[in-house]
Amino acid sequence: MKKVLLTILAAALCFAACAQKAPKSIKLLEPSFDEGMTLMQALKERKSSSGFTEKEIPLQDLSNIIWASLGVNRPDGRRTSPTGSNRQEIELYAFFRTGVYWYNYKTHTLELVKEGDYRSITGRKDAQTAYMNLLFIADTTKTGPGNKPGDANTVSYVNVGYVSQNVYLACANAGIGSRARGGWDQQKVVETLSLPETMIVVLGQTVGYCE
Ligand SMILES: Cc1cc2nc3c(=O)[nH]c(=O)nc-3n(C[C@H](O)[C@H](O)[C@H](O)COP(=O)(O)O)c2cc1C
Repeated sequence: MKKVLLTILAAALCFAACAQKAPKSIKLLEPSFDEGMTLMQALKERKSSSGFTEKEIPLQDLSNIIWASLGVNRPDGRRTSPTGSNRQEIELYAFFRTGVYWYNYKTHTLELVKEGDYRSITGRKDAQTAYMNLLFIADTTKTGPGNKPGDANTVSYVNVGYVSQNVYLACANAGIGSRARGGWDQQKVVETLSLPETMIVVLGQTVGYCE
């Protein structure tokens, strides 16, 4: 009897450990266009939320939010958010408790970049424990550098504004909280993600259910 109980306990522990493990990639679902509110209602509901929790976001909502940010919406490869001169220099990284993922917009997939909990380098307070934190990172080799060392090109700050608002609206549509935020650690981000110094964080955004 004792042996059976120990076996069950070991299996449960193994299952819990496996459930924590970050998958190598997360194939996102095609966006759903016929659920939720009207655009005008989503604009009415858009706000910056507080009190984020770790409650899991269903895959369809997660897929919609990511697609709304920077997904492909036309056969020629252009995206839901515009970029000056169509440079498409903004990369999206999503930080979860289990790992950090890069959004491959061509395959609509989140690809694991680094296993582990690095949410603390994305921002302060509840950014550190929210279900997901997004960083919008500009590839300055596509735009030229900013005015000061460490800054992205001005056009990237404009471009990310569109991305962030799309996230706000997709979250409002799904009844999920969101907050644009500063407070990331640029140096730790490039080190953690093994990015070149030419990749500059422009903005962070917390996404998750709230208390
Ligand atoms: C560029 C930008 C940076 C922001 N940075 C932070 C931040 O670091 N921390 C925070 O709590 N909220 C941040 N916010 C959210 C603002 O505080 C929020 O948008 C503002 O209070 C207006 O509230 P609303 O979004 O609900 O209209 C930021 C918003 C923007 C657009």
